[in-house]
Amino acid sequence: MHHINNSARMLLLGIETSCDETSVALVDGERQIRAQLTRSQLTEHVRFGGVVPEIAARAHLQYLPRMVAECLREAKADWTYINGIAATVGPGLMGGLLVGAVYGRGLAFARSLPFYPINHLEGHALTARLTDDAKFPYLLLLISGGHTAAISVRGVGDYHTLGETRDDAAGECFDKCAKLLGLGWPGGPALEQLAAAAPGKYRFDLPHPMRGARHADFSFSGLKTAVRQIVRAPDFTDDQKLDLAAAAQTAIAETLSDRVSQAFKLSPKIFTALVVAGGVAANQTVRAALMKTAEQNCVGFITPPLALCTDNAAMIAWAAMERVHANLILPPDLHSRPRWPLSAMTQAS
Ligand code: KG4
Ligand code: ZN
Repeated sequence: MHHINNSARMLLLGIETSCDETSVALVDGERQIRAQLTRSQLTEHVRFGGVVPEIAARAHLQYLPRMVAECLREAKADWTYINGIAATVGPGLMGGLLVGAVYGRGLAFARSLPFYPINHLEGHALTARLTDDAKFPYLLLLISGGHTAAISVRGVGDYHTLGETRDDAAGECFDKCAKLLGLGWPGGPALEQLAAAAPGKYRFDLPHPMRGARHADFSFSGLKTAVRQIVRAPDFTDDQKLDLAAAAQTAIAETLSDRVSQAFKLSPKIFTALVVAGGVAANQTVRAALMKTAEQNCVGFITPPLALCTDNAAMIAWAAMERVHANLILPPDLHSRPRWPLSAMTQAS
């Protein structure tokens, strides 16, 4: 027997498999994460220098069943307490998306539970409400390996993209600069570490693409090209690497901050906060620059804890919770899709 509890006691299982993290979580209606397990596939992909979609899909399939069982054990929950199952159906790598959706639907069918298909980006967009009870409207800066966008989050299912990258994502820029500097993948954390030891002996003037432009789009490919030219120059020495890493990091942070300032100017909305999510939010220089931008615009600054900034299942369960509460649930047979912009969610609901 499944009791549809009052919404506060509602308990949802989330499944996230859109990229290279396999994650499952149980989240309740009072914003408690009862349990979450996330398994990064770093070791599977590291020797290829990036995520291999086929390997990712197989790994998700291999790990999901025991992770779901472990998650229930950790939360001391059994199936009779669970009110529904949510899984990411897009955007992302198709193989992994299919594994998560088919597995989630199968479980839901077997347990006679509702299935909630979820947009991964909506998960990121609503995480600040799970972690910090953020109030609408807020400005979300999503900075990961695959996405860079400034989004006005006006309500559940109500997102307006103010700007996005026209070429590389911010994380991609970190990764590419790191590779040029001879660092391994993923490059962001390695570059940050290298930059921390920079002696400050050499100066590099790197471009700040689109600085001051009256729109909130981003561009990072010019920055990467400039770094490449410096590294390939005949007079470049190993001794200069640390300072170049620091200069690249600063240029990325300043570019993000400049673009976010424009997003504030563009939007007629009074935001309650600047929310920063995605793997690049782990970077201390980026964080400091954006905190300052939030201060200058007189809004709060929220970055969820790192485990909830990067890909995770709690945000998927939570997005489903928000949709249930707002009476905006999506059709359970929604197809998995590699592309699914947040702006399409606003039209859908
Ligand atoms: O959100 P995420 O974990 O995965 C997706 O892309 O969905 O973001 C990964 C990206 C990678 O490009 C990685 O290099 C970058 O975030 N990243 C960082 C740092 N930690 C992760 N970039 C700069 N500094 C860091 N400390
Ligand atoms: Zn993500």
